[in-house]
Amino acid sequence: MKVFITRKIPQKGIESLRAAGFDITYRTDPGNISQTDLIQKCQQVDCLLAAGHNLLDKNFFEACPHLKAIALMSAGYDSVDLDEATKHGIPVSNITDVLSNATADIAFLLLLSVSRKAFYMHKKILNDEWKDFELTENLGIELNGKTLGIFGLGRIGLELAKKAKYAYNMDIIYYNRHPNEIAKRILDAEYVNYDELLTRSDVLSVHANLSLETKEKFNKEAFKRMKNTAIFINTARGGLHQEQDLYEALTTGEIWGAGLDVTNPEPMSFQNPLLNLPNVAVLPHIGSATEQARDNMALMAANNLIAFSNQVKMPQILNLEVYQK
Ligand code: DGY
Repeated sequence: MKVFITRKIPQKGIESLRAAGFDITYRTDPGNISQTDLIQKCQQVDCLLAAGHNLLDKNFFEACPHLKAIALMSAGYDSVDLDEATKHGIPVSNITDVLSNATADIAFLLLLSVSRKAFYMHKKILNDEWKDFELTENLGIELNGKTLGIFGLGRIGLELAKKAKYAYNMDIIYYNRHPNEIAKRILDAEYVNYDELLTRSDVLSVHANLSLETKEKFNKEAFKRMKNTAIFINTARGGLHQEQDLYEALTTGEIWGAGLDVTNPEPMSFQNPLLNLPNVAVLPHIGSATEQARDNMALMAANNLIAFSNQVKMPQILNLEVYQK
């Protein structure tokens, strides 16, 4: 089987595909591949290992009639039209579990950094603005015993909830499509509606997929419903929040702070005014950027393609209905 890999991935993934007999075309240029090049490459292979955020839409599927399987090296699949993939008989898999801990760590890091204005204070040192020992300036807030609200309690949200519970004895509330029995049992987490999530959370962390249903869910109206002492954290997808509304909510005091590992658009401009606010911490989408997570992500993506080549169901299949066709 021929596979095209869209960008540099950990060697373990390549070795695993090679050992399984795949004929690999591997793009090593930095940055995301152009749509034209992606289509051109995918017209010559059986499988695609998509690392990064490539638009796999109707146009893509129609242009690549010989493509047979796609493995995403990401948990998010918002850039893929799964209905089109199914229509073309193409199974698509993603990554689960192996990046949950790393991503929850980044959410936790942002939560702490925002609550103590750490990024802003660090910038002051770099700008030679470390002057006197101030007793009443730039004070942060403490997290102990506060309420953490999770929007989308999947594996990443659960990992963050555990950290917050064990480190700061935070109360956990969450909004999800379904109640999560594990969260109830181990963390006494409370299942609440969306409005309760907004109004009760001291920290509100977003862990949902980006979809038509969740797009810009965190907008002017949502920020208005939140506590003016609340911290908003997004490590999922920038499209889940409305960035101008977020800026206004922060500068008018509707909410207290924000920590973002994802922005809208990405990359964020270095001149974005959010970067100058004291209670804001921004990272460049590094949720899964640990050696362990990335190695395991590459291996998992490879395993899905190997399963496909062995005519076995891809373990992390997203469009299960493709097998019923
Ligand atoms: C994911 O896995 O979706 C991360 O955001 C990296 O793309």
